[in-house]
Amino acid sequence: MEKITIAIDGYSSTGKSTIAKQLAKALNYIYVDTGAMYRAVTLYAMRNGFVSENACDVEALIASLQDIELRFVYNDAAGFAEMYLNDENVEREIRTMEVSKLVSKVATIENVRQKLVAIQQKMGLEKGIVMDGRDIGTVVFPNAELKIFMTASPEKRATRRYKELLDKGEEVKYSEVLKNVEHRDYVDSHREISPLRKAGDAIVFDNSDMGLEDQFSRILDFANRVI
Ligand code: C5P
Repeated sequence: MEKITIAIDGYSSTGKSTIAKQLAKALNYIYVDTGAMYRAVTLYAMRNGFVSENACDVEALIASLQDIELRFVYNDAAGFAEMYLNDENVEREIRTMEVSKLVSKVATIENVRQKLVAIQQKMGLEKGIVMDGRDIGTVVFPNAELKIFMTASPEKRATRRYKELLDKGEEVKYSEVLKNVEHRDYVDSHREISPLRKAGDAIVFDNSDMGLEDQFSRILDFANRVI
């Protein structure tokens, strides 16, 4: 059977990665979470003092990009690939609220995007890939055979994210999560380079009132119609 490329873009916390992971598993495709890559670069920048809430030393971060090695390593027990930053498993650390607050700032930097987009395109050379992010259907794989643009109300998305963070033991307030989701969407959609927008040929998928099973079966159906 011919393998295709599936691009899943959309707003923060729309559940893109949950669906993308399930879809990749069902089709026996590779799954790539590009948000994890931007998060890992952000973690590196935080640890080296290049970015904080009030400042970002763009030059220093650009100069250090050559020292950042990103890798996904499949974890059998978890059932998905985890993010490694220079041989360190950072899967947990990149999901914290602290990283979420700074990642969109780092994601506006052109050299960062160039580096990550090049890695992503290389991973997709053989097709048979489900990739989620913000610019997959528009920039990374403009010729993807299936493009989904996921959306849901900010309140629904913040509620899901809030539960996830609580489950992981983070002490956060719902209002803080909602503010972060809205802020990231604003920065991601208004940045100059590769802003978050729906590709002309993407299917808009609003999952505000949809359970996971329903979402998965509908998206698998879209995929089966193309494959
Ligand atoms: O997908 P996730 O919410 O983990 O992404 C974190 C952030 O990384 C986004 O808010 C966005 O700023 C950035 N990002 C991006 N382009 C992508 C994936 C993520 O700019 N393809």
